[in-house]
Amino acid sequence: MTTAAILARDLTRARDRTLALVNFDDVELHRQYDPLMSPLVWDLAHIGQQEELWLLRGGDPDRPGMLPADVEGLYDAFTHPRASRVDLPLLTPEQARKYCATVRSRVYDQLENLPGDADGSAEGFVFGLVLSHEHQHDETMLQALNLRAGPPLLGTGSPLPAGRSDLAGTSVLVPGGEFVLGVNAADEPFALDNERPAHCVDVATFRIGRVPVTNREWRAFIDDGGYRQPRWWSERGWRHCLQAGLSAPEFWGPDHRSRVRFGCVEELPDDEPVQHVSYFEAQAYAAWAGARLPTEIEWEKACAWDPALGARRRYPWGSAQVSPQLANLDGAALRPAPIGAYPGGASAYGAQQLLGDVWEWTSSPLRPWPGFHPMIYQRYSEPFFDGDYRVLRGGSWAVAREILRPSFRNWDHPYRRQIFAGVRLAWDV
Ligand code: AVJ
Ligand code: FE
Repeated sequence: MTTAAILARDLTRARDRTLALVNFDDVELHRQYDPLMSPLVWDLAHIGQQEELWLLRGGDPDRPGMLPADVEGLYDAFTHPRASRVDLPLLTPEQARKYCATVRSRVYDQLENLPGDADGSAEGFVFGLVLSHEHQHDETMLQALNLRAGPPLLGTGSPLPAGRSDLAGTSVLVPGGEFVLGVNAADEPFALDNERPAHCVDVATFRIGRVPVTNREWRAFIDDGGYRQPRWWSERGWRHCLQAGLSAPEFWGPDHRSRVRFGCVEELPDDEPVQHVSYFEAQAYAAWAGARLPTEIEWEKACAWDPALGARRRYPWGSAQVSPQLANLDGAALRPAPIGAYPGGASAYGAQQLLGDVWEWTSSPLRPWPGFHPMIYQRYSEPFFDGDYRVLRGGSWAVAREILRPSFRNWDHPYRRQIFAGVRLAWDV
């Protein structure tokens, strides 16, 4: 398949996914489920507006587009914070769907003119950027739907493989030494600016969890008074814990045996990776467990480095394409798989479930790699480098396989819990 054909297929797949997430009535689409989230109809039109800007107007907002300037301005994420978007005179769902479809049909025309050798070209890259943007908003919409009060709209999710509870608490050794952190466009043509360039980094020997921390393990932290003892928390984390009144992960029932997930109340699966904890909680749990959070550099080495080859792998398990036997991705499961569900997805060091299931908090603040150069979407990464953001790695069950790589970096404020985020521990050796 040519790059253009692959992009056309992937863009269509992303749009099918988006439309399924907004396949609700107009009242539903205009509701604000939580002040943290936009109404779904905002995400929908914003997806189209960004696609038009980057692909049809060369990234130049002064080039006239299909929407009047004042309407287009409603979809600028920097001008309008999420909490206020519900009060804006947004496009109706019908207008938004039509707008997105018109943009997309022109994008397909443009794809046909993409040269056959477009792999790694600047023109080809922008299509991948737009694809990544749409899928990232699909995950955001899933976060919104998970916060929605009321009877379930999405069902309970597709089946997942069984796990191995005896892997809880086990770890693997990652011997010290240099490895290549980050990627170059030559190897990963669609890697975003903050993943580049590749460069050598020396890492001291460490251990890292074979699997993420489970709900059962987290309950032991609660039962041991973890949320009541400042000794495990950072100073700022403890202040936040008190002020927010934290006592368990978000969505857990007061008995710590049940949870609400996409509107369904269900028994808490003991062997599933814990979800919906903040960085502050993750850090406290790690201290309680006699461990720490990995740095994002350690995480990437444990995920991508092949010490026998002295080279990076495309995926933790090697170069085979993502499949449902290797990782829980693409969003259909609506939840993480139990620990140990993907032995074939282990990295060279033996760590499992690095891609998919839950985003994993790292101890690293978001910073550029040395030699960082912003991409055409200049405000994708750069405005967040000096902010109050921690890096998350590995992707959740809600991430599309097309956009995920071991080098992919996500970020959020250390107190946020709406993301599908959990914890993998690390230890000094
Ligand atoms: C990389 C997930 C933090 O949602 O704020 C979407 C992705 N950037 N539109 C976000 C993004 C612009 C971004 N994250
Ligand atoms: Fe966006």
